[in-house]
Amino acid sequence: MKTLFDETRLGRMSLKNRFFRAAIGEKTTDGQVNENILRLYKELALGGAGTLITGFTLVDEAEKNFPMLAFYDDSFHESHKALTDLVHAHGANIILQLVCVGSYVMGDATGMTVLAPSAVENLNTKVLPREMTVAQIKAVQEKFAKAALRAKSAGYDGVEIHAAHGFLLSQFMTPYYNRRTDLYGGGAEGRARMALETCGAVREAAGADFPLLIKINVSDGLENGGAEFADVLYLCAELTKLGIDAIEISGAFRAFPPEATSFFRKEAEQIAAAHGAKIILTGGNRDFAEMTGILNDSKIEYFGLARPLMQEPGLINRFKEENGL
Ligand SMILES: Cc1cc2nc3c(=O)[nH]c(=O)nc-3n(C[C@H](O)[C@H](O)[C@H](O)COP(=O)(O)O)c2cc1C
Repeated sequence: MKTLFDETRLGRMSLKNRFFRAAIGEKTTDGQVNENILRLYKELALGGAGTLITGFTLVDEAEKNFPMLAFYDDSFHESHKALTDLVHAHGANIILQLVCVGSYVMGDATGMTVLAPSAVENLNTKVLPREMTVAQIKAVQEKFAKAALRAKSAGYDGVEIHAAHGFLLSQFMTPYYNRRTDLYGGGAEGRARMALETCGAVREAAGADFPLLIKINVSDGLENGGAEFADVLYLCAELTKLGIDAIEISGAFRAFPPEATSFFRKEAEQIAAAHGAKIILTGGNRDFAEMTGILNDSKIEYFGLARPLMQEPGLINRFKEENGL
């Protein structure tokens, strides 16, 4: 029987258990890792989660209108290095999550040139973006690739491409936001192209042995115009061919009531059964016995927890003690 405390490997990264701290956006006024963030990650590392995924981190300076982490140039190197050193010294892995927000602009968009797959007003932010040219698409992919290289040199164990929750790469997947008629729009293949080429660019820059993860939506939370599950299956098949190290399954997590657990279990099980890529199931993981059951009854191998670890950074150690593992 598999347990949640098995030691495993993802590419060259060793994991002491199957728990990930799922990303929580950290507040920082200048994009640098600050003392509060260091304090939190030390606590999380000491709390037992094997692998910590950072909050979303900007790869494009043009999007810097919100107090979140950034790594779009080398001026951020030192503070990120301090974070990776600290986490490693306390026995955990750390993955940097990379994002472009597109029309899901966090904060005030006044004066910004906002780019997105198509000129469609964002339902959350009411921002009307400009449609990206192919040259702008390629430039963004390059920014992800360069940020991944910086992450590698700052000591991160890998990177995660944020293609979920309505941000730029997720906008490309979603028919409502992607009305393009060129190679980057249309059917599943066209809409998945941006995420796939971005992963390809990161792989090429950072090397095949540098762990590469992606977080995707299985549900967009849109009544009309969301991606179909068949589109998601196509994306996962292609990610698997590309040799992705893990796919983190998420979706419109805020739609679930407090008593719901492991929200995207069914979809993640299907993806895990269909493809060889390792799957991290995130959203509503609260119950140790239920997660152990999922681990043994399906091909899902990893579990991401965000809000539970916000409330109790030492939860994973408690799970270990309570279950005699
Ligand atoms: C305050 C807050 C900030 C979040 N920030 C991020 C983020 O930066 N990147 C991301 O991929 N998900 C982010 N999430 C989503 C979580 O990673 C996770 O997918 C979601 O909370 C569901 O998991 P949970 O039920 O374990 O909390 C955030 C969630 C919350 C509540």
